[in-house]
Amino acid sequence: MTAWPVHPDGTRLPGVAYGGDYNPEQWPREVWDEDVRLMREAGVTVATVGVFSWALLEPAEGHFELDWLADVLDLLHANGIAVDLATGTASPPPWLSHHYPETLPRQADGTVLWPGGRQAWCPSSPVYRERSLALVSALAERFHGHPALVMWHVSNELGGHNSRCYCDVTAQAFRGWLRQRYGDLDVLNEAWGTAFWSQRYGDWDHVLPPRSAPTFPNPTQQLDFARFGSDALLECFVAERDLLHRISPGVPVTTNFMIMSHVRDMDYLRWGPELDVVSQDHYLEAHDPDAHVELAWSADLTRGTADGRPWFLMEHSTSAVNWQPRNVPKAPGQLARNSLAHVARGSDAVCFFQWRASRAGAEKFHSALLPHGGTDTRVWREVVELGRTLRAIGEVAGTTVRGDVAVVVDWDARWAAELDSHPTQDLTYLDRHHALYRALWDAGVTVDMVRPDDDLDGYRLVLVPTLYLTTDAAATNLAGYVEAGGTALVTYWSGIVDGHDHVRLGGYPGAFRELLGITTEEFFPLREGQEVRLSGGVLDGTTADVWTELLHATSAEVVSSYDDGPLAGVPALTRRRVGDGTAWYLATRTDPAGTTALVRQLCADVGIATHDLPGVEVVRRSGETASYLFVLNHTDAAVEVPVRGTDLVTDRACPGTVKVAAGGVAVVREEGH
Ligand code: GLA
Repeated sequence: MTAWPVHPDGTRLPGVAYGGDYNPEQWPREVWDEDVRLMREAGVTVATVGVFSWALLEPAEGHFELDWLADVLDLLHANGIAVDLATGTASPPPWLSHHYPETLPRQADGTVLWPGGRQAWCPSSPVYRERSLALVSALAERFHGHPALVMWHVSNELGGHNSRCYCDVTAQAFRGWLRQRYGDLDVLNEAWGTAFWSQRYGDWDHVLPPRSAPTFPNPTQQLDFARFGSDALLECFVAERDLLHRISPGVPVTTNFMIMSHVRDMDYLRWGPELDVVSQDHYLEAHDPDAHVELAWSADLTRGTADGRPWFLMEHSTSAVNWQPRNVPKAPGQLARNSLAHVARGSDAVCFFQWRASRAGAEKFHSALLPHGGTDTRVWREVVELGRTLRAIGEVAGTTVRGDVAVVVDWDARWAAELDSHPTQDLTYLDRHHALYRALWDAGVTVDMVRPDDDLDGYRLVLVPTLYLTTDAAATNLAGYVEAGGTALVTYWSGIVDGHDHVRLGGYPGAFRELLGITTEEFFPLREGQEVRLSGGVLDGTTADVWTELLHATSAEVVSSYDDGPLAGVPALTRRRVGDGTAWYLATRTDPAGTTALVRQLCADVGIATHDLPGVEVVRRSGETASYLFVLNHTDAAVEVPVRGTDLVTDRACPGTVKVAAGGVAVVREEGH
């Protein structure tokens, strides 16, 4: 297996790869020559080709027309541009669903999702899988030895629009998945708690996806369907990958993730190890003025799915997108800041959707490297400038990022925490993740995202937000970390259920009660808009909302308590010393001031340095021989950050500090670090 985009001759794609999706089939042949000329001008090194080309590559079933794609690859190669070749399976041609209507996906209420957009296929469809593999096979046979090829790009954003299908074909596949998981129907009945509401199954054929029902469908059935749905898409990837490894050995295979807060159907932490190179697409939420913090969170989580290895930013946008309610363009300089923020957090590529803005189709108002207005545009000038910057910092490629703090992330916990029929609808899985992350980002502390049973050794601080579903292995892992001297913070709605979404009995949070030295007898979610005041310790004078609980400190000390509200006097924040380690429990949804105070206290306790540079992002990448400090100034005033070395962006010496202009960037090769 190959771990980074390489030519078949074994040479690695040099420096930080730069480029984007290239869709020449939307343009007449003469435009292609201008494309490659301008790609060279911008310093583009890689193009992703063929993402939505199935209908042109196989205009009729079994009839392949690949010559035009060969011309594209030849042209790119002749101009020194490497190719990340897509398998084209993301969007089938109209003939597929015409001949095989059973390949179309259905929603939970039975509504068919028709062709005419994209991704109208059921992930469990054997017909889809057979036809898609036939295309992959034809492409791989033809292009495996092409000198431009550096990576295979399976499908595109698997599950973007068709992540959950509820059709009869899926029902059968779901049963197969359940049989593998449980073996015996009685075991499934036990796991799903079907003694409740007369749901007991006597025959496998009676088991269905959780389709629209008169009221709450069985929660474990919903959870298993989420797991199955993610696995079904992963299977599509693995089938293509295995075929590519066989026909095109030595060329790495990827598929582009969508690690963004609003995407929740794919368990990328499970997918990551299956990819030769983790690649990722990220788009800013235009309504969020601090979207660069969500970007950083997403980039750190992407690095987590890649187990810390460098990853590949496959797509982001040069400016506005077209699919949000209000598509706000990027401010001057933001393109470079966003791009370098991904690089700072481990990406060795800066790629975009797409090279040339389309004239027709649903994405014609999406920004591109080459806008409708051509080269005399602000975006094009920033694109050329970015190409120059990426060449200047090329030596950072291959270095890695190591955080001081680990945050435990788990998609089973996300799916389960957000099921219906819970104590409050106001609680979402990522809410505390983002709140804690924001406080750490503000403090200049870099975070690694880890799985619940990953090795926590070496982290001075571990945060466990909203780990509602906790396996025994995860509970043991965290306890072992604290017993060995670590410091952990667990937030509310953690440790409540086991892997089947069954409550852990004897007082909440069953999985962590002993470690934390507390027990909760009843949840007290607050009314909409209701706030409570906190007093004592680090949370003194702050407020909280959404969630409180009737908690007793058994062997923990009480740090802060509620001052008013339904639980006045009850502990809200506790701490238990365990040998040299410490286990904190936060039982309520603190306001930003409380969260910040707590996070800074925890960092101070364990000796993690924090900074007071609001809006300034500082991250280090390190290699065997050098380290690089990225400084991204998201504010509208110049800042000065202590560092000694050379700023690769400006090629200026930094004798003790680097001065970064408002909205600017610096990448300092450090001396003596
Ligand atoms: C995704 C897709 C692209 C394009 C962009 C638009 O990332 O992969 O094909 O639709 O979104 O933002």
